[in-house]
Amino acid sequence: MDGGARYDGYRRALAGERLPAAFVDLDAVDTNVAQLVAPIRAAGKALRVATKALRCPELVAYVLERAGASALLAYSAAEVALLAAAGHRDIWLAYPTLQARELDALAAANRTATAAIAIDSAEHVVAVAAAAARAGVVVPVAIVVDMSYRPLGRGPHRGVRRSPLRTPEDVVALAEQIRARGELRFAGLLAYEAQIAGLTDRAPGARARNAAIRAIKARSAPHVRQLRRACVEALAARGVSPAIVNGGGTGSIAFSAGDDALTEVTAGSGFVAAGLFDDYAGFTLMPAAGFALEVTRAPAPGIYTCAGGGYIASGTPAADRLPRPWLPAGVELLAHEGAGEVQTPIRAKTALALGDPVLFRHAKAGELAEHFNEYVLVRGDRVVGRAATYRGLGHAFLG
Ligand SMILES: Cc1ncc(COP(=O)(O)O)c(C=O)c1O
Repeated sequence: MDGGARYDGYRRALAGERLPAAFVDLDAVDTNVAQLVAPIRAAGKALRVATKALRCPELVAYVLERAGASALLAYSAAEVALLAAAGHRDIWLAYPTLQARELDALAAANRTATAAIAIDSAEHVVAVAAAAARAGVVVPVAIVVDMSYRPLGRGPHRGVRRSPLRTPEDVVALAEQIRARGELRFAGLLAYEAQIAGLTDRAPGARARNAAIRAIKARSAPHVRQLRRACVEALAARGVSPAIVNGGGTGSIAFSAGDDALTEVTAGSGFVAAGLFDDYAGFTLMPAAGFALEVTRAPAPGIYTCAGGGYIASGTPAADRLPRPWLPAGVELLAHEGAGEVQTPIRAKTALALGDPVLFRHAKAGELAEHFNEYVLVRGDRVVGRAATYRGLGHAFLG
């Protein structure tokens, strides 16, 4: 479908909606699910769906159903409690906390679900074990391995700053601390390679940077494979084999599916194809989520001002964190104004009328849901449902 037909379809679907509105195109989600899941299944691995990219219980359930999957990667303990209460049975909290109230919620979720927490330190062990004891349950824990890449073992550091555990010995030592605690069960490894999955390498107008990132990815890939394998082997040699070894993200599905050390691969953002995921060399997804703003002014020929729109993505501040004008084709932000607190001017090649919608995509997947109470669910040119976001349900899990 060309841009004109797509715009007309969404415009018909959203006619009568209060703008700004956030929407999800379920046909495009279906296409993305099929594309992302195929290599994971072909490699005989499981998929774990990253909820932070969706932040909407109905959409989480929809993606799981389409993907034929049941495992979730969550981002807050209170969220884990919500997901367990909604009937999910296999949840990993990917980011640790030491807060007793949060850990109590996670421990309690283990009464109905397997609700593991990812940890990387002795302090985490003590805090999670205390919560498990308070709840009278055994809490599964996963160890987070730092998969970042440092040429020659020193710097510069390529990857995220999360776990301090960099060697198989580090990992075995923590696994043995876990084994020594009756309140805990060792569930596996979380070995996410952010420098491969999370860095764009086909960004427009950034030829030198793209080449540098591709080189980092290529050089760090053997290191990632080798470290994962070494951790699994070291744990097995001490009698603490990890039942689950998780890695990957939307940006590294092919690489992760091909890594024998992994038993499962995570994906989230790719199901809705957030804007940043246009900028990867290895794959092309269907834009599946966006927001519509109302054109309220026409301050100059070819320039239109929309109400709202300043939904800036987190991460290193740069132009790629701005919302991406999407439809009608040819719309673009103005460099000197960007996307504003209450107004976003755009330049358009197509003539627009006051009251028309202009469609944008958020740079990151889940953050769109922090700005809206619901997603309007669209198929073709029709609204087929509405799904409350976490925000719409009154949750600000990391807010
Ligand atoms: C632990 C972990 N796994 C996987 C991912 C990838 O998720 P996505 O597919 O949304 O990029 C992330 C993203 O930050 C993550 O933190």
